[in-house]
Amino acid sequence: MADPLPLPGGLLLRECRPDDVAQVGALLAERGEPEDAEDHRLVVTDPDEGLSSCAVVVDGDRVVSTATLLAETVRVGDVVLPAGQVELVATDRAYEGRGLVRALMAWAHDRSAARGDLLQVMVGIPYLYRLFGYEYAIDIPRARPLALAPAGAGALRRAGPEDAGVIADLQAAAQAGADVAMPHPAARLRWLLTHEASTTWVLGDGEPVASARVQEREDELLVAETTARDEADADRLLHGLLGLAGGRAVRVVDRPWAATGRAWTDRLGAGPESAEQYYVRVADPVVLLDALRPVLDRRLATAPALEVPELVLSTYDRSYRLAVTDDGLGPVRTAGRLPWPGAEGGAAFPPDLWAALLLGPLGITGLDRLYADVVPGPQAEALAALFPPLTADLLTYYLPW
Ligand SMILES: CC(C)(COP(=O)(O)OP(=O)(O)OC[C@H]1O[C@@H](n2cnc3c(N)ncnc32)[C@H](O)[C@@H]1OP(=O)(O)O)[C@@H](O)C(=O)NCCC(=O)NCCS
Repeated sequence: MADPLPLPGGLLLRECRPDDVAQVGALLAERGEPEDAEDHRLVVTDPDEGLSSCAVVVDGDRVVSTATLLAETVRVGDVVLPAGQVELVATDRAYEGRGLVRALMAWAHDRSAARGDLLQVMVGIPYLYRLFGYEYAIDIPRARPLALAPAGAGALRRAGPEDAGVIADLQAAAQAGADVAMPHPAARLRWLLTHEASTTWVLGDGEPVASARVQEREDELLVAETTARDEADADRLLHGLLGLAGGRAVRVVDRPWAATGRAWTDRLGAGPESAEQYYVRVADPVVLLDALRPVLDRRLATAPALEVPELVLSTYDRSYRLAVTDDGLGPVRTAGRLPWPGAEGGAAFPPDLWAALLLGPLGITGLDRLYADVVPGPQAEALAALFPPLTADLLTYYLPW
């Protein structure tokens, strides 16, 4: 961060320093979970993240609020978008309601933009982050009860940092089938393999051939982020996990596009019906849309032809125009307010649905069913092919609840 930022009341927003770390940990533990202190320490001591990923607000020497911005990537089709994730947010009770988290979110978004991030993705308490430009956009899969156990045997061992490379490869294979994917960056994988809040187990005496991240709760074992080379290894992994559960119920986060999902989906009962979603913030739709043009071009190649000279997308307040050429869509040009893009064969949707449209599970047709101001327009079939429902596999620190 360039300079410390003075805030009202003599407070100062600045980068976290080594002698703040214990106070930040205590604040996070007091306002959140006790494990948050260890997680924060692991982030700020990681060579890829470090102290500059965390900001604090101080009153003299006292840390009264904090937030951390992690470096992420989000893959959409074959385009990889740099992204940020805000984590480990808390304000001292005596300092709540003074705009400190609002100021820290502005710090995080400025830092994220400065390093070229096109998105921010996060998991956070309900509603709050809408105030900072986030929308709910991508489903968080719910854990489902294991109804039917496989036959066979599998012995697991707890993974350590030395397994990080192989687990990253297994994760890449597991995520390959999802339309949208956010992997664990190397820093978070190191952090998860060290911390106490969850444990990672692997199958294989030497090189892991399957893995799962597990949270042991009193009455159940929550199993997530599962990988396996093939379905046989997936079943051996599941058997090992049942051994670990020792009679407790097992709930599994399904990954239908991965080997574990192919092996297990039919053995899982129904999960909770209520929605959980990742928050996504799109700072500049022009830049994001431009970055996604290769993906849109590939969809356009097999879509019903767009019978218009320009693809016109209106968010009512503003409109976005991309020339339709033989080589695909041209660069995004913006224009003014356009309430009725249908006259030009275009579509309309409100600006707080950009992420849901470009990354979400509903596509323009599903959004049209839910929102009166989503209007695919006269080229609805082509628009449905351009903005289809997408599957997503995002890895974060959090495990589904
Ligand atoms: C939630 C928390 C981080 C807010 O910190 P804060 O410094 O008081 O937040 P701010 O004063 O910057 O508030 C920013 C805005 O959020 C609103 N807000 C604060 N807490 C809110 C809540 N729980 N729900 C809805 N809105 C809330 C404020 O009214 C303010 O709105 P405004 O700017 O439009 O007036 C703080 O209360 C906290 O540490 N809670 C416990 C830990 C926690 O839940 N962490 C978040 C994990 S994702």
